[in-house]
Amino acid sequence: MSDALTREPALLEVSDLGVEFSADRHRVLRAVDGVSFDIGPREIVGLVGESGCGKTTTGNAIVGLVPVAQGSITFDGKPIALQSAAQQRQFRREVQMVFQDPMGSLNPRLPVGDAILETLYVHRVHLGLATRRSRQSRAAELLERVGLGSDFIPRYPHELSGGQRQRVGIARALAVRPRLLIADEPVSALDVSIQVQILNLLKDLSKELSFACLFVAHDLAVVRYMCDRTLVMYLGEVVEEAPSDILFRTPSHPYTRALLSAVPDVDKGLAARHGEGSRIVLRGEVPSRLEPVPGCPFHPRCPEATERCHTERPGYATVKDDHLARCHFTG
Ligand SMILES: Nc1ncnc2c1ncn2[C@@H]1O[C@H](COP(=O)(O)OP(=O)(O)OP(=O)(O)O)[C@@H](O)[C@H]1O
Ligand SMILES: [Mg+2]
Repeated sequence: MSDALTREPALLEVSDLGVEFSADRHRVLRAVDGVSFDIGPREIVGLVGESGCGKTTTGNAIVGLVPVAQGSITFDGKPIALQSAAQQRQFRREVQMVFQDPMGSLNPRLPVGDAILETLYVHRVHLGLATRRSRQSRAAELLERVGLGSDFIPRYPHELSGGQRQRVGIARALAVRPRLLIADEPVSALDVSIQVQILNLLKDLSKELSFACLFVAHDLAVVRYMCDRTLVMYLGEVVEEAPSDILFRTPSHPYTRALLSAVPDVDKGLAARHGEGSRIVLRGEVPSRLEPVPGCPFHPRCPEATERCHTERPGYATVKDDHLARCHFTG
C-alpha cells in the first residue's frame, strides 16, 4: 500500500469490537473479543486464522447480522450505531457481501439477470435506470465486468460452474456500487486454478471501481496474494497486524510464526500449489471458548510462553511502524 493511501482517513473503523453468543442458559461465548482495525479506501485487508476464531462473526457484526456487545463501528466517519434511517439504508448499500457458497446466496428459480437486478430493487437504487431496457443493459454491463457475457442473463444458477456462480455473486454485490466489500472465504469452495481467476478479478475490480475489501480466509497463500494488509485472529482477538509483505516475511507473534511454519509452501505462491497445501494446520487443540484462558490466550499452545504469559494478558505493542502484535515479547 502506498503512503498516500495510508494517510487517507479510514473508510471503516472497528474499535474494541465484542460479540457474544449465549452457549447455553448459563454461559456466554465471546466469539469476538476487543477487536480493533481499520480499512482505508480501496484497501484490501485480510482476516486470517483457524476455524472458529471469529472471522465470520467479525464480518457479520460489521453489517449488523449479529448484535454488537461492545465497542463501535464507524463507516465513513459516522458511528453506525448513531446513523439515521436514511444513513442506515445507504450503509447497507455501500457495504456488500460476497459469500463462500454462491449457490446458497442465489435464488435457484431466478435467472442470473434478474438476480443481479434484484439487488437494485432491494436497495431501492435505481441509479438512473428508469426503464427495463436500461436495467437489462446494466445487468449485461455488470456481467461483462465479471467476465461473463450478456448471454448469461437468462441462465439459472444450476446451469453455471462454481466459478461462474461466484462471478455472478460478485456482479450482484457490485450492482449497487459498494465502497466496501466483505468477502467471506469467497474462493475456498473453488478449484485452485479457478481461485486465482476469481482473486485476480476481485483485485482488478477493486482498483477499477475503487472499493475496499475485508477479505476473510483461512488460506494463508490466498491472503498473501490478495491483501495489502493482513490481520491474524486467534480465539476472538486480533493478535498481529501488518502490511502483508512484512507479516509474511517477518511474522512477530508466536502464533503467526507457528501458522507460517506449518505451511512450508506459502512462499511458493498460490499458483504453484495444489489442493490443501497451505491450509492452516497447527499442533495442539484450540482451547474451549467457554473456559476463559487467563493471561495470554495463546499461552497453552505457545512454545515461548513464560510465567508472565500465564497470568498477564498482553496488549498491542508496535513491532515497527504499522506492524503490531499482541505478545509480551514483541518489540
Ligand atoms: N450464531 C451463533 N451462535 C452461537 N455460537 C456461534 C454463532 N456463530 C458463531 N458462533 C461461534 O463463534 C465462534 C466464532 O465463529 P465464526 O464462524 O466467526 O468463526 P470463523 O473464524 O469464521 O470460522 P471458519 O473458518 O470455520 O469459518 C465459534 O466458536 C462459533 O462456534
Ligand atoms: Mg467463517
